[in-house]
Amino acid sequence: MVVLLQLPIVAVHGGATVFEKKNHEAILKAVRAAAKLGMQALEKGGSALDAVEATIWVLEETDLFTAGLGASKNRDGEIELDAMIMDGNRLQSGAVMAVQNIVHPISLARYVLERTANSQIVGSGANKLYEQMLAEGYRKETSVRKTEAPIMVKNYDTVGAVAVDRSGRIVSGSSTSGWPGKMPGRVGDSPIIGAGVYANDVAGASCTGKGEQILRITMGRMAVYHVEQGLSVQQAAENVMTELRQKTTGEAGLILVNKFGDLAIDFDTTHMPVAVISKDMSEVFYSMTPEWPID
Ligand code: GLY
Repeated sequence: MVVLLQLPIVAVHGGATVFEKKNHEAILKAVRAAAKLGMQALEKGGSALDAVEATIWVLEETDLFTAGLGASKNRDGEIELDAMIMDGNRLQSGAVMAVQNIVHPISLARYVLERTANSQIVGSGANKLYEQMLAEGYRKETSVRKTEAPIMVKNYDTVGAVAVDRSGRIVSGSSTSGWPGKMPGRVGDSPIIGAGVYANDVAGASCTGKGEQILRITMGRMAVYHVEQGLSVQQAAENVMTELRQKTTGEAGLILVNKFGDLAIDFDTTHMPVAVISKDMSEVFYSMTPEWPID
């Protein structure tokens, strides 16, 4: 489906998967609250980077998604988190992979983007960088709990967001623990540029679902590429979803936003909670099934 909105816009998703019915209301409330928080960041004069970080941060802070406090353990009973944020207009990104014992990898990903000359930091290196980030006072770890929350989904999912500010600057991001029981060290699409996340000065995408399948078609980059080639966001999203279905076993989805605020949402799973907010908080839509909008 497609929504034409006015800038600025914040769109957030809570993963393409199956959510237990008893959690639906809380999940929708969470994505909606996250989108509002992202918009508040923009309204306070923040950038699209601030909006995406704030939006994902607040979802990491809930235990409703397989990210942050809701993270799933790997096969060895440990939690390894991946996150990425990409500033489309600068074509620069920061990502962390398999970082342990933290709650907010999205802030660390932004730290990589803004305070290092690198793009991707993995494992113990990411943890060391996290200590440096805290020591510098760049961000605080606010939650006293560690990532031990009960698993709310049978499969797995990812949280992500795309924000476009009034000037058309596009930022995309993503955060996840990957699937429950994954092989230690396994990394999916979420922190990989062009797979789970991509943004440039034309459009931004945040993908979610089965990382191994998303990686095969570099879904985020391809979605944005189709927009660069002149397709509407809806057609571009449909194209990548068609390729996903035809060439892989699927089970994924994406949000795709262009620099004018046109938004497409597509997924082949039962649920993908999405909330979208634009200009002056006057338009808020949210849903988790293809029936859209419900508000
Ligand atoms: N999309 C999340 C993952 O596969 O890790």
